[in-house]
Amino acid sequence: MAIDGPAGAGKSTIARRLADALDFVLVDTGAMYRSVALAAMREGIAFTEGERVGALARGLVARHALSFERDQVLGVRVKLGGEDVSDAIRTPEIAQGASLVSAHPDVRAALLDLQRQAGEGGGVVLEGRDIGTVVFPEAEVKFFLTASPETRAKRRHDELVAKGQTTSFEQTLADVKQRDAQDEGRAHAPLRKADTAILVDSTSLSIDDTVKQMFEAVKKAS
Ligand code: C5P
Repeated sequence: MAIDGPAGAGKSTIARRLADALDFVLVDTGAMYRSVALAAMREGIAFTEGERVGALARGLVARHALSFERDQVLGVRVKLGGEDVSDAIRTPEIAQGASLVSAHPDVRAALLDLQRQAGEGGGVVLEGRDIGTVVFPEAEVKFFLTASPETRAKRRHDELVAKGQTTSFEQTLADVKQRDAQDEGRAHAPLRKADTAILVDSTSLSIDDTVKQMFEAVKKAS
């Protein structure tokens, strides 16, 4: 199953709920891009240095330095070279870094194999931006989950505040809009709905109702 959509649409929570209900494995591809961004920051490589970040990503994959484990609370626990970076990758700075590094074709190519390997056996929910268009265009069920920018920013802002981070709603909204523009406007694997993906707009839906609607669509499709 492929679930794509912009930042803050509720993908992570919903993908986790669907994976649990179906007893599927959850693959959070955004966490992969975030991990590469964190590694680049630590190495002092600018997010915009495509070739260097690409080489870094290839190296991480070749050394099996990225690992993702199921976690009851977080959904996915992420390790970078054995270190738990699950919290370190969830900052606004790394979100923005992930959006920049993911625009480089070398970085995308390095992570594509990892994503295809994770999904090839089936029984997997992959969430990201290009799963239905590039990674698994033949996925059995494809969703494009979205919501208005204001709604997405409000959800994101509530999350950040709950984690004790101090940022204004206006700043969060500006970040969401900037990330949308970058993700939709890039040349390689831009964020867009696959023609055959089911559109779900969660603007005025609760998480429960969104999951219910998607679960019904899965049942109908299988
Ligand atoms: O979903 P999440 O907010 O964790 O993703 C972080 C960033 O990683 C996105 O803004 C996007 O630029 C990038 N990404 C991507 N392709 C994916 C998943 C994430 O380009 N399949």
